[in-house]
Amino acid sequence: MLSRILTAIFVVTFIMLTALTPVQAQDVATGQRIFRSNCSICHSPRPGRNIVGPSLFGVIGRHSGRIPDFQYSAANLRSNLTWDPATLDRYLSNPQQVVPGTLMTFPGLKNSQQRADVIAYLETLR
Ligand code: HEC
Repeated sequence: MLSRILTAIFVVTFIMLTALTPVQAQDVATGQRIFRSNCSICHSPRPGRNIVGPSLFGVIGRHSGRIPDFQYSAANLRSNLTWDPATLDRYLSNPQQVVPGTLMTFPGLKNSQQRADVIAYLETLR
């Protein structure tokens, strides 16, 4: 009897732990959808195409403020960041906090899975 109860407790605990563990696999297709609905009104994924924001083609690994014909804010130019996945994750969660005074009037993606997915998509733009 006791062993059955213990087995039941073990099984329930195991199921709960599995359900609570966040799935952090990054999904490029989901990231592309998130890009289209959150970023593409201001950013193009194509090289050389600047809209309200600079082209995000090849953004991974790029230094901040490096698209030659885009008028960046002084805040962006001073930020001295390299857009690696970790920095992008911080920036995209709250752009105004990471680069105070930035022209990017985007409140940020609060969901870490959405940020991981959109960054996985940005990594394909090369
Ligand atoms: C309302 C328009 C707007 C939206 C929406 C927007 N951005 Fe921006 N973004 C900008 C502008 C404008 C800049 C230039 C900022 C500056 O000069 O201060 C910028 C800059 C950036 C930069 C820095 C580029 C560089 O060369 O230094 C990255 C990276 C970026 N945005 C990613 C994103 C991503 C990813 C999304 C969607 C999750 C997004 N942005 C949504 C307008 C936007």
